[in-house]
Amino acid sequence: MDNKRRIKIIGTGFYVPDQILTNADLERIVDTTDEWIVSRSGIRERHIAAADQATSDLCVEAGRRALKNAHLEVKDIDLILVANNTPDTVFPATACWVQAKLEAGTVPALDLIAGCTGFLYGLIVAEGLILSGAARRILLIGGDALSKVTNWKDRGTCVLLGDGAGAVVLEESKDDAGILSSYWKADGTLAELLFIPAGGSRRPASLQTVAEDGHYMYMKGNEVYKHAVKRMSEAVEEALKKAGLKKDDIDVFLPHQANLRIIEAVGERLKIPGEKVYVNIERYGNMSVACIPVAIHELRQHKRLKPGTVTVLAAFGAGFTWASIVYRW
Ligand code: COA
Repeated sequence: MDNKRRIKIIGTGFYVPDQILTNADLERIVDTTDEWIVSRSGIRERHIAAADQATSDLCVEAGRRALKNAHLEVKDIDLILVANNTPDTVFPATACWVQAKLEAGTVPALDLIAGCTGFLYGLIVAEGLILSGAARRILLIGGDALSKVTNWKDRGTCVLLGDGAGAVVLEESKDDAGILSSYWKADGTLAELLFIPAGGSRRPASLQTVAEDGHYMYMKGNEVYKHAVKRMSEAVEEALKKAGLKKDDIDVFLPHQANLRIIEAVGERLKIPGEKVYVNIERYGNMSVACIPVAIHELRQHKRLKPGTVTVLAAFGAGFTWASIVYRW
């Protein structure tokens, strides 16, 4: 065991809404086909939140499950950190709605908005807070209800998205397991490639913004695609370098599940064999910040994360933001 202080995941859980929307369902909503969606994205179905389910409702369920998995109660947590892009309300933070529903007393609660990279940004922030002594144990939740900001008339975006939440409980590691290295970047000059134009202080809600569909997610898909492949690959290379590891040391590569073609392009660029790359996009679509924690829980369920397994997490998203984390189990 080395002397480096690090944090580790001690519990995981996730929640996806019951309602499933298949590609066949989408064929009845927009001018698309199952063949187009599968060949361009790898997605076959996604879960959609009910009308009365907000992002916090998905997060609360995921958070409860992660606490149970860690054999802990909410009183054992001293910070609730919620990465999301679809807040319940502009303010207060979605973390506060979550905190109340978890009956967490006066535990601090904080949101983190970093596009689909939010969960990895959250791990890096949590690492700093735990190792500085500001928090001992953190419940980090990544949850989004993208369906609530989806333009169901825009076939270029609505077929790609799904709703869900995943959560992890974090504390300082007492062994060799945990975050070995991280790399995070942002480029705000690319903000308009993927954003919600109206509803904030830049363009407050008005009859005009509603008429212009300004409250929905807007995306320049082709541009996002190019940056995603380049930046995720860069992030993995840099994080590996910081950990002193090589690509061959990767046991499991877990990329953000935005599009199967992006995942495959990054895998090819980095020369990571396909069997090491975890993919579940066909069942969930792009759930934004929820993709990685949901996949982590599934990998644990499938017993693919044994002591010593080296996992590389990588994500990109609105902002533009991108990051990678090397994690040893
Ligand atoms: N069904 C059928 N046709 C569709 C369609 C759909 N759902 N969506 C778009 N098309 C059409 C387009 O209108 C276009 O038609 P045209 O040539 O007649 O104009 C054609 O398909 C090709 O469109 P294009 O945008 O060039 O397709 P693409 O191969 O780039 O794939 C994306 C589109 C969105 C799947 C791809 O760009 C992508 O995955 N981008 C990244 C998105 C992403 O990951 N976002 C999340 C970031 S966290």
